[in-house]
Amino acid sequence: MILDRVKPLDAILAAAQKKSLHRSLGALQLMLFGIGCIIGTGIFVLTSAGAQKAGPGLMLAFVIAGAVCIVAALCYAEIASMIPVAGSAYTYSYATMGELLAWTVGWALILEYAIAASAVSVGWSGYFSGTILNEFLGIALPQWLAAGPLALGGEPGGFINLPAFVIALLVTWLLMIGTSESAKVNAILVAIKVAALTVFIGLTLTSAYFDPDKFNPFLPAGIFGGFGTGVGAVGAAATIFFAYVGFDAVSTAAEETKNPQRNVPIGLVGSLVFCTVFYILVAAGAIGTIGGQPIMGPGGIPFPAGSEELARQCALPAYSDALVCSNEALAHVLRQIGFSGIGNMLGIAAFLALPSVILVLLFAQTRIFFVMSRDGLLPEGLSKVHPRWKTMS
Ligand code: ALA
Repeated sequence: MILDRVKPLDAILAAAQKKSLHRSLGALQLMLFGIGCIIGTGIFVLTSAGAQKAGPGLMLAFVIAGAVCIVAALCYAEIASMIPVAGSAYTYSYATMGELLAWTVGWALILEYAIAASAVSVGWSGYFSGTILNEFLGIALPQWLAAGPLALGGEPGGFINLPAFVIALLVTWLLMIGTSESAKVNAILVAIKVAALTVFIGLTLTSAYFDPDKFNPFLPAGIFGGFGTGVGAVGAAATIFFAYVGFDAVSTAAEETKNPQRNVPIGLVGSLVFCTVFYILVAAGAIGTIGGQPIMGPGGIPFPAGSEELARQCALPAYSDALVCSNEALAHVLRQIGFSGIGNMLGIAAFLALPSVILVLLFAQTRIFFVMSRDGLLPEGLSKVHPRWKTMS
């Protein structure tokens, strides 16, 4: 059947040779792409929900989620070095399972990257209009310019989310003018994020508040939690998995990588190992200073993170300063141990660096478009290479 036809490896490589993207990225730039996409809102926001499920076992949760991603990354690395062209899982499916499945995987990837990039743009816009424009500059953006028509979560809708639209457009423009230019901007944004997390780790691990007793009991809800409860270290790993989303985007850059057989595996695994170590140290710093034991409900099972019962407990004075009750865990920890100013700056650093997540997600999304168009599954115009910028035009 026509849709079952697989595309032999030789044909894939020959098509890529006829019309290909320029190879400009090295191992370090790929690793920075990975880190740029992995470290985003997840670690700043989900640390409290993870601690509510696993307590200090959150550190083990980061190991579990990281290990799962590394196994997947090794598969990506092996196939990407055999098929060093753009397209990631779409191309790999085409080479092994046929056109129909490849088309489905291609559209799933487009949706993943495009929707994640939109979600992060909207998150960035919320902080921009709420904190930067409103609190710092005293400018209130009219509602019709601050939200799309279908605003969620009980928020009133608007006409267009202008800041989200503008940041996505700016990132798209940057991606258009060049891959190595985008890699340079990404490197700066990654440096800001990593510096912010390093300051957090340094201040908490050396703080006078740091007390090893805070890690005891280490697994208050066990490793697996009770059946169907979703708690314990494994349940927390599922929650904080979002903090790892995007690591696979590195494989979409295979066609723009010099010596992809060597550099793609380094980029994929290197960025994951780096982020996993950082995440574990962040969790250790947060829990070792202000504690991170879950608030237990009936039967000694932690109240579900995000539930009304938990919100009721958090409203009690006994829990008002608890890590598991905080919306912005890392800034909250710094405020609790006497670094309020640095806590606020951490929020600003996260905001400044967030566009790198959008950048890598949009980079990956456009590469899937490019290869699907080159294969004739999308209009041909989407695989034109710009003569000067050597990106998609
Ligand atoms: N991993 C990215 C984040 O945590 C998507 O925001």
